[in-house]
Amino acid sequence: MPISIIVGAQWGDEGKGRFVDLLAREAEVVARFSGGDNAGHTVAVGDKLYKMHLIPSGILHEGVVAIMGNGMVINPLSLVAEIDRLREQGVNVTPDNLLISARAHLITPAHIELDKIRERASGAEAIGTTLRGIGPAYHDKVGRCGVRIGEMIQLEDFAYSLRQSLQHANQSLSLQGAAVDVEASVAAYTRAAERLQPFIYDTALYLNQRLSQGARVIAEGAQGTLLDVDHGSYPYVTSSSPTAGGALTGLGVGPRYVDRVLGIAKAFSTRVGGGPMPTEDHGVVGQRLRGTGENFWDEYGTTTGRPRRCGWLDLVMLRYAAVVNGFSELALTKLDVLSGFEQVGVCVAYEIDGERWETPPTSNAQLERANPIYDMLPGWSEDLSQARCLQDLPRAARAYVDYVAQACGVPITMVSVGPERSQLVVL
Ligand code: GDP
Ligand code: IMO
Ligand code: MG
Repeated sequence: MPISIIVGAQWGDEGKGRFVDLLAREAEVVARFSGGDNAGHTVAVGDKLYKMHLIPSGILHEGVVAIMGNGMVINPLSLVAEIDRLREQGVNVTPDNLLISARAHLITPAHIELDKIRERASGAEAIGTTLRGIGPAYHDKVGRCGVRIGEMIQLEDFAYSLRQSLQHANQSLSLQGAAVDVEASVAAYTRAAERLQPFIYDTALYLNQRLSQGARVIAEGAQGTLLDVDHGSYPYVTSSSPTAGGALTGLGVGPRYVDRVLGIAKAFSTRVGGGPMPTEDHGVVGQRLRGTGENFWDEYGTTTGRPRRCGWLDLVMLRYAAVVNGFSELALTKLDVLSGFEQVGVCVAYEIDGERWETPPTSNAQLERANPIYDMLPGWSEDLSQARCLQDLPRAARAYVDYVAQACGVPITMVSVGPERSQLVVL
């Protein structure tokens, strides 16, 4: 049985976690394929709220095996804390239901310091990273000098590798007054390694074995298409491949198993951090979409608490995401948040230097100059939070969903109308 890939269709925080949780009900394995604790995936079950940063959102389901794939970069201290937090919430997390790839890379304290230094030095051009050391960890991976999770199996060798890596990093960090405490870091990471050892596995072989036995696998994306290191607005991106292609290399599986690519898109646009965002609204629309912060689903980062930049849905970007991922279907989240607007805008094209663009320019400079061209659609005033089937949605909300699907050329198969598991309309 094949693989369903779930990826973010915008700039992250689309609501991937809640859809992974939904699809995990019918899966045997849920596997995260990219990123690290820069991600924050929220799942609301009744009045309980679960926030996953590293552990796949499928962990909440009994009988599901959660995998952290080789494409990830892992801060072992964050991971141990997350395991403990989930256990305190009553979630079963053991080496029987959580497997960590031996090939995933380690985020060290030096990576975190470097992330901070680079961001500070970039001033107004800072990427606005989550300061979790993501970029420097992938840099070392590709530069072939990273430390891998599998090294934790031999504690002495691991301590040696980590010490070497930190001492090397300190040569430049100390020039900037940011040297890390090597021995304290080695001690803390060794303690974490002892805890994590039983979870470490050759997850690619495990996954392929389960697939050959007929298991249904959900590949859980983090971040979003427009943050992809190749396909996003480089350099205002993350350092991994959160698109559908990244699922294959990030897990070590072949394309023949993939039968579904589900894009998750928010019904409007949000972005946290720097970089171009053509439909960003600095006025009342942006404020209303963001919310006041009173509700946990208001637009403030799950990982960093930063207010997200908000604006109308950008169909130019969404069509592009559909193309580079090959979406077989889309799910639209937070439709409930659009209730109460007299009209709802959708950006259908950009005007750049007097020309109309229906696809995003590859150049950031051009993208920064893009003026969104909007279609204004009729809004609706009804509260959608109780809607559970198509007929429960007001006509204007249905028309909005149809419009988006048609504009992207991809069917919208699910719409969510609130954060809770059951607040869902299957179309
Ligand atoms: P992810 O990173 O893609 O998993 O998304 P996040 O969890 O970072 O952000 C999505 C936020 O929106 C979370 O607080 C979710 O609980 C919430 N959410 C998801 N779907 C809906 C929805 O349909 N309506 C509302 N109001 N909130 C939602
Ligand atoms: P989830 O999985 C939203 C953004 C950061 C920054 C850029 C680079 O919850 O959707 P990084 O720390 O990765 O080097 O930062 O990417 N970013 C996210 N934005 N959701 C995320 O994850 C993100 N992960 C990274 O804000 O702009
Ligand atoms: Mg998130």
